[in-house]
Amino acid sequence: MRLAINIDHIATLREARGGLEPDPVTAAHICELAGAEGIVCHLREDRRHINDRDLRLLRESIKTKLDLEMAATEEIIKIAIETLPELATLVPERRQELTTEGGLDVRRHKHFLGDVVKDLQNHEIEVSLFIDPVPEQIEAARAVGANKIEIHTGEYANAHSERDQKTQLENVHRAALMASELGLGVNAGHGLNYLNILPIKQIRGIDEVSIGHAIISRAIFVGLERAVREMLELIR
Ligand code: PXP
Repeated sequence: MRLAINIDHIATLREARGGLEPDPVTAAHICELAGAEGIVCHLREDRRHINDRDLRLLRESIKTKLDLEMAATEEIIKIAIETLPELATLVPERRQELTTEGGLDVRRHKHFLGDVVKDLQNHEIEVSLFIDPVPEQIEAARAVGANKIEIHTGEYANAHSERDQKTQLENVHRAALMASELGLGVNAGHGLNYLNILPIKQIRGIDEVSIGHAIISRAIFVGLERAVREMLELIR
């Protein structure tokens, strides 16, 4: 299982003062030096954390893989095609949300998303769709020609009882199996941390996890490099 690190929160901290520090690009380099296999950032329509310059600098300087989380809007699609990340992860985006709050409804927007997937793939960008672990959405992701899915693990991470957590874990497990049987690559992310990663690690079929908040939060106390290494030790 590979680890890709979402560095949006570094930019959130920078935006709190509106200056240049802390720099998410430097953070990406430290993550890579510590062993992370990919860097994830979300260029939001409102640019509340990562901005266009960050994206450009990340593209120019990271040595692993760039995963651009993005809403399927005309403006951001154009930027993705100019930037050429290795992977574009399409996510739903609502302005008022604190963070991404659920998976894409691929079934409902099949035709539209099919066109977006093709457009990005025509520019050699692989496309992943961030979806809830629901069979209909996985089928739809396959039908629109996505390369991968990212399973939304938020319900698992936020489960309030052991029983609920077990149910949510089973959903993630079934989704991973189904997607890999359909030939889709499988990533997972949202709300994963140093405690809840272990059961996820046991699931065969999940190729990569995308983790942001837990690692950046831990980095405040132990430093970014150590926070990344500790997560890698758990995952491997
Ligand atoms: N994957 C996606 C699609 C996300 O939107 C986010 C949050 O930005 C993450 C993974 C990472 O979630 P977290 O910050 O909770 O680790």
